[in-house]
Amino acid sequence: MCSFKDCTILLTFIYTLLLSTTATASDVCSSSNSKSEISIVHIYGKCSPFNAPKPSSSWVNTVLDMASRDQQRLAYLSSLAGLKPTKVPVASGQNALNIGNYVARVKVGTPGQLMFMVLDISNDAAWIPCTGCTQCTSTIFSPNGSSTYVPLDCSMPECIQVHGLSCPASGTGKCLFNKSYGGDSSFSATLSYDSIGLGNDAIPNYAFGCINEVSGKSVPPQGLLGLGRGPLSLLSQTGSLYSGIFSYCLPSFKSYYFSGSLKLGPLGQPKNIQTTPLLKNPHRPSLYYVNLTGINVGRVSVPIAPELLAFDPNTGAGTIIDSGTVITRFAQPVYTAIRDEFRNQTTGPFSSLGAFDTCFAATNEDIAPSITFRFTGLDLVLPMENSLIHSSAGTTVCLAMAASPNNVNSAVNVIANLQQQNLRIMFDVANSRLGIARELCN
Ligand SMILES: *[C@@H]1O[C@H](CO)[C@@H](O)[C@H](O)[C@H]1NC(C)=O
Ligand SMILES: *[C@@H]1O[C@H](CO)[C@@H](O)[C@H](O)[C@H]1NC(C)=O
Ligand SMILES: *[C@@H]1O[C@H](CO)[C@@H](O)[C@H](O)[C@H]1NC(C)=O
Ligand SMILES: *[C@@H]1O[C@H](CO)[C@@H](O)[C@H](O)[C@H]1NC(C)=O
Repeated sequence: MCSFKDCTILLTFIYTLLLSTTATASDVCSSSNSKSEISIVHIYGKCSPFNAPKPSSSWVNTVLDMASRDQQRLAYLSSLAGLKPTKVPVASGQNALNIGNYVARVKVGTPGQLMFMVLDISNDAAWIPCTGCTQCTSTIFSPNGSSTYVPLDCSMPECIQVHGLSCPASGTGKCLFNKSYGGDSSFSATLSYDSIGLGNDAIPNYAFGCINEVSGKSVPPQGLLGLGRGPLSLLSQTGSLYSGIFSYCLPSFKSYYFSGSLKLGPLGQPKNIQTTPLLKNPHRPSLYYVNLTGINVGRVSVPIAPELLAFDPNTGAGTIIDSGTVITRFAQPVYTAIRDEFRNQTTGPFSSLGAFDTCFAATNEDIAPSITFRFTGLDLVLPMENSLIHSSAGTTVCLAMAASPNNVNSAVNVIANLQQQNLRIMFDVANSRLGIARELCN
């Protein structure tokens, strides 16, 4: 095994080697999933059904486009965390679907119907657009085409776990529910059972919402696979099958052709991995809270008042790790402190690009300090590609983080996708810990 720093150098080398020898990865789109390992692709990646038309000309613009929709995601996460955003911002002229960032191939029903479902670690349940759905926009699951599909009765215990349901006065009927999603959208669905296929695993009688109607643009068109910690999540529904553990490795934003992986169960998880405890918020059981205790910029520990980072289950404040936010967001005073220290150690002048306010000449990139997130028991030194983003011309680089928007209650800090690229993030829910290790995901 190599030390964290050595691994970085080694992996960068291997990565460069791979890039130079692999022109295209021609068969990554076909399912070569091994048992309990599922490939996950970027939503606009080559293997995604959503890759065309691409939302913009270059990947940095794609990132900026996607990051501009973070506001809604943050407002939504704040509301999940129990914090009331003052106002849910909706970007005007937003035509692109706000469909999360990573999709996995999942087979639903018998025989299996292929769906590309968005991974969402901050939600529990799975939702799938079904035949007859009003306003659904993409591939639709046909319950009639599945011999194992069963709509759930409203008296079933699963129905009681879903927010907002009610049995009609007569006491029987389908389990219908409405749910809001993504800050600006909602859908109605029928809670149902069917088997789902993940890699080579078939999970019978999986409870999911069969979507009948959608309003707004945030609901993923091919459905959503919830990997949260609460009831109805994949881990909860699969019981002992995966022993309460999964991990993912998100492919680099730049690697259009490659896929990362979702590993379900203890098999193949890294053995030597630094971990930090997962914190439980009894009011918000889905969210993965961690104890972020400080941030280093280069060798400097950024002065941040501890209460700005503290976990508070009563207010929902603290730090979560999320798969649906594009760039890491900190409460305004936290971000300002990081940014000022970063600027202090870099050479300006500094300009803005989209959500980023600390952009500088790429010729000064080599003096840019590394960023370290310090969690209880785990220091994550961000690889440079996870803390800096290049403009499409390559002449400018930006610090790839931002403050929470002002109109969002900013007490939740969110560790987002861009900062998770090429890392294996292990969710050991059974032992209530989160592990992070360097890995070349692509
Ligand atoms: C599904 O099958 C049921 C029962 O055969 C039928 O009533 C219904 O119209 C079918 N739905 C669709 C969308 O084909
Ligand atoms: C869900 O929303 C629709 C449309 O607003 C409404 O007609 C329906 O009654 C709602 N259903 C439930 C179960 O709340
Ligand atoms: C987080 O870490 C700080 C500093 O070590 C500690 O004082 C605090 O109790 C921890 N919070 C939780 C919820 O574990
Ligand atoms: C930046 O560096 C200067 C000089 O070393 C120091 O006085 C100042 O406090 C630093 N600012 C921050 C935000 O660290």
